[in-house]
Amino acid sequence: MSEKVLWSGRFDKAPTDETIEFTSSLSVDIRLAWYDVMGSMAHARMLVKQGIISAEDGDRIHNGLGDILKEIESGTVEIDGKSEDVHSGIEMLLTKRIGDAGARLHTARSRNDQVATDFRMYMRDATLETIESLTGLQEALIAHAERHMDTVLPGFTHVQHAQPVTLGFHLMAYTFKLQRDADRMIDSYKRLNLCPLGAAALAGTTYPIDRHMTSSLLGFSRPTDNAMDAVSDRDFAVEYCFDAALGMCHLSSLAEELVYWSSPEFGFVEISEGYSTGSSIMPQKKNPDVAELVRGRTSRATGSLMSMLTLMKGLPMSYNRDLQEDKEAVFRSIDNYNACLRMMAGMMSEARFDPERMSEALKGGFLNATDLADYLVKKGLPFRLSHEVVGKMVRHCVKNKIGLEEMQVKEMKEFSSLIGPDVMKAISIEECVNRRMSFGGTSPSQVENQVLIGKDSKDAQLSFCMRERERMVKVWNDLAHDM
Ligand code: ARG
Repeated sequence: MSEKVLWSGRFDKAPTDETIEFTSSLSVDIRLAWYDVMGSMAHARMLVKQGIISAEDGDRIHNGLGDILKEIESGTVEIDGKSEDVHSGIEMLLTKRIGDAGARLHTARSRNDQVATDFRMYMRDATLETIESLTGLQEALIAHAERHMDTVLPGFTHVQHAQPVTLGFHLMAYTFKLQRDADRMIDSYKRLNLCPLGAAALAGTTYPIDRHMTSSLLGFSRPTDNAMDAVSDRDFAVEYCFDAALGMCHLSSLAEELVYWSSPEFGFVEISEGYSTGSSIMPQKKNPDVAELVRGRTSRATGSLMSMLTLMKGLPMSYNRDLQEDKEAVFRSIDNYNACLRMMAGMMSEARFDPERMSEALKGGFLNATDLADYLVKKGLPFRLSHEVVGKMVRHCVKNKIGLEEMQVKEMKEFSSLIGPDVMKAISIEECVNRRMSFGGTSPSQVENQVLIGKDSKDAQLSFCMRERERMVKVWNDLAHDM
């Protein structure tokens, strides 16, 4: 019988090589190695304190795991490639080195609670990294917004000219989306930060374990409340995938705008050469491939979310091997989201906007039509009627290929006697923007306020991450310290 499996006792025959290969998750869950060692250190410490294993065995385990930890950190660890997963690989390596003590480590736990615990620890760090990456992009957007509080460009609905807006306002719109993306991650963190260790296979254990102790040794806020729930769910990972998929939707909108804003037809933005690529045939090309790939890689995020939901759907209680498939989908989502966020942050901070091209684009499109209607309302005309009047004026202008501001006041009067010479000021683009001072509006004064909110939120996110990271450094130091 092969020594590659932890459960050979029940079997006469070893699994075929094909079965070993088919069922092994080592190539994927090797990422959990560091967390697995930490989880085992906490478990061993608790077993000693509860008198379940001897202090000598505890020491041997602790030191053996300490060596493995160093090897993991230096990239020299040699886990048998035929192991069923990272958890059995590490346990076998330890037992090979320290004998019986290693074989006592798995007392009062199962791989089912072990894997759930390791995965949650990994997800905690991944979540912090994502929040930090989000912050980087928020920072780049806010810096541009501050510089362009009163740069005016057309605002669009249906990709048709709608009303003039400031560039700062437009960029802050993205910043607030990212802020909520980060908020969602912070909120998920509290559901994520619960410790399944000690749930054992599914029903808890007869050993007098102390779950509160292992939970706190591993920096969790508390143990999970129901053992069966703890080993059967991956909702914390699905949440990450959802947050990432939605976050990628936001990134892909920004990427899409960068793609067409950087085209010669728009020319609103210049993407720096460091974030562009050329063509193998057309010598003149400078393509926005990075932005296009961010847009394209949204598919990975959506894919991971769909994989996770499909994986979870209809699973009976409690642990089922299907759950092993979770890591590949989630790791892909994490890597993809973080990479896209970092690329977008770099690309945005080097991007240069062109206020002149934006200003030229203000000319067509009747961006001040709403303001003309509002002008008539202020003169006493009900809004529906003024809408009708301005619609007719626009039709007249379209026919004559002119803008509303290019009409003579006299000409305008033919459409409504309420129009006077003060109309020109009322429909100047600058006025249209400056007067939109309603809370959250596009006027520079409002954008200034939005920038302040955006900065505060970004700082709060960063201090959340910093606090957590500092707390965890202390947790890991205490745990790896001598028993
Ligand atoms: N590698 C498995 C996973 O990732 C954990 C092992 C539990 N296996 C078992 N047969 N109970 O889910």
